[in-house]
Amino acid sequence: MSFLPAPPVDEISSLSLATAVEESEFSQRVLIRSIISRPDGGAGLAGQTVRVGGWVKTGREQGKGAFAFLELNDGSCPANLQVIVDAAVGQLSQLVATGTCVHVEGELKVPPEGTKQRVELRVHKILDLGTVDPAKYPLPKTRLTLEFLRDYVHLRPRTNTISAIARIRNALAYATHTFFQKHGFLYVHTPIITTSDCEGAGEMFQVTTLISDAEKLEKDLIKNPPPSEADVEAAKLLVTEKGEAVAQQKSAKANKETISAAVTELTKAKENLSKLEERFKLKPGIPNKDGKIDYSQDFFARQAFLTVSGQLQVETFACALSSVYTFGPTFRAEHSHTSRHLAEFWMVEPEIAFADIQDDMNCAEAYVRFLCQWLLDNCLDDMEFMVKNFDKSAIDRLRMVSSTKFIRISYTEAVAILEEASKERQFENKVEWGIDLASEHERYLTEVKFKSPVIVYNYPKGIKAFYMKVNSDNKTVAAMDVLVPKVGELIGGSQREERYEVIKERILEMGLPLEPYEWYLDLRRYGTVKHSGFGLGFERMILFATGLENIRDLPSILIWTHCAENRLLTLFDSRMSMSDCYDRFENVYIDSPTGSSAAANLYCGSQLVCEFIEFLLFLNLHD
Ligand code: 4AD
Ligand code: MG
Repeated sequence: MSFLPAPPVDEISSLSLATAVEESEFSQRVLIRSIISRPDGGAGLAGQTVRVGGWVKTGREQGKGAFAFLELNDGSCPANLQVIVDAAVGQLSQLVATGTCVHVEGELKVPPEGTKQRVELRVHKILDLGTVDPAKYPLPKTRLTLEFLRDYVHLRPRTNTISAIARIRNALAYATHTFFQKHGFLYVHTPIITTSDCEGAGEMFQVTTLISDAEKLEKDLIKNPPPSEADVEAAKLLVTEKGEAVAQQKSAKANKETISAAVTELTKAKENLSKLEERFKLKPGIPNKDGKIDYSQDFFARQAFLTVSGQLQVETFACALSSVYTFGPTFRAEHSHTSRHLAEFWMVEPEIAFADIQDDMNCAEAYVRFLCQWLLDNCLDDMEFMVKNFDKSAIDRLRMVSSTKFIRISYTEAVAILEEASKERQFENKVEWGIDLASEHERYLTEVKFKSPVIVYNYPKGIKAFYMKVNSDNKTVAAMDVLVPKVGELIGGSQREERYEVIKERILEMGLPLEPYEWYLDLRRYGTVKHSGFGLGFERMILFATGLENIRDLPSILIWTHCAENRLLTLFDSRMSMSDCYDRFENVYIDSPTGSSAAANLYCGSQLVCEFIEFLLFLNLHD
């Protein structure tokens, strides 16, 4: 009888734990994650010399100033690396302040028994140091509220909460691309500046240079007043005189030089006159024509806006490339200042040709469940942080959604359920067939009635956008909303109306002008196809995953209306001039009606909106 050799336990464990530290390829350090997120907590790396960089979370001098303990975090994972620096290596008082940046080299060691760390770094050399004056640093090491942190949007990514959300956001973006790429969708970029209102709700931020042009002109006219009528008349007279002088010289058969000198004088007088006439016509204020703003003088020679959704443009790709998606920023000038509404938010919008509302719902459900599973598989440490600090049920919710089939009910069924419920509970908004479901209704369905994600479909056509397919009852459209606990509406989508005559009628019915939608109608005129799609509000997905209460605490969203001004003033004056901002934000593109693109400077239509955009640019540049 032959014996099988004993399994090579040691070899197997060393296979799963690389023996050498992983050097970061593009910076001179090792990511803290690659040390302490190993299954052995980094203990297997003891004895190795590494460089790490990060910001001090907490630091203290010990042994009567003989050495310092630093808790160092570089954002690669929620946990900190304990770093020990001897007084001989550096000035300890400069290292211990919260917020200090250190880049150090040292040896990884297994700490003495009884400490919670599995590995610590003994520093040999300080390579770089970014000091902090603790008396001035705005983020002390005490626990800070999210409200407090909203005043320090530029520093808050250094906090545990905001960095955890940033990693979750990153994971969700990665998962989004993975999901759609895996299913054969092409990622397309849709424009940010547009001339058409996708939702037809008139909630768009306008993009215009008329105001800045008017302001420039106003300043210029003060500095350099326009000519009076008398000045223009005098200049005209001079032109006449100079003209006569030329005629005289010619009839007197004067020599070439004399005539040419007179002609030069005449040309100068004419040039002067034309300049004066030009400036005489200048009027301060926004240009008007027939009592209306004259947009023909605007940058795009027509009204333009920030997009509320990339759907209309993504449809152009779906009607050629079949399965596509866009993922980008969208803007809405809604006056809903709720914990679920933002002026700028990101949307993931797939669009599928040859797909009906059922396919659309299947895709939405599979995508949301994929996102939840992805976080469980790839972001558990950050999710555990959220559970500990914000929402005990966050991980259970992800588990539930990733493993549960979504409930599907028609709008009519939803209203019947809500009417029944309103016999026992008071909703703030009255329930009856035809209303747009309010957040309280949506949350009742998903949180109380079904305790599961719910897809509501076939909404009344009167409350939905013009592009949705009209059902055969002629009362409802093939719309669907995905409702989830904590958030309510996470996804809005529909089968699109592909019949030319019907969609044209719907545009007119809604009181929208046909002209900006002519290119969109072409998709129905030529080779029309049944197609469907949806939009997932990316920040709402983060709210849902993390259990945070307010959408304003999500890191890429650093702005919301009414608060722009204060923050602008605090941040701008010390950091970057407005003109720097404009200089660096020159190229944005417009989907012009002819389909061509044009480079543009972006400026906005009201003081508040203008600040909104400036602030946004500022933050984008610093993100
Ligand atoms: O339901 P909505 O308005 O649908 C559309 O825009 C479609 N054109 C999408 C499509 O079919 N391609 O918006 C889609 C989602 C909502 O379900 C919500 O999650 C999110 O976008 N959303 C917002 N998120 C944050 N702040 C706001 N102001 C939002 N408005 C909509
Ligand atoms: Mg919606």
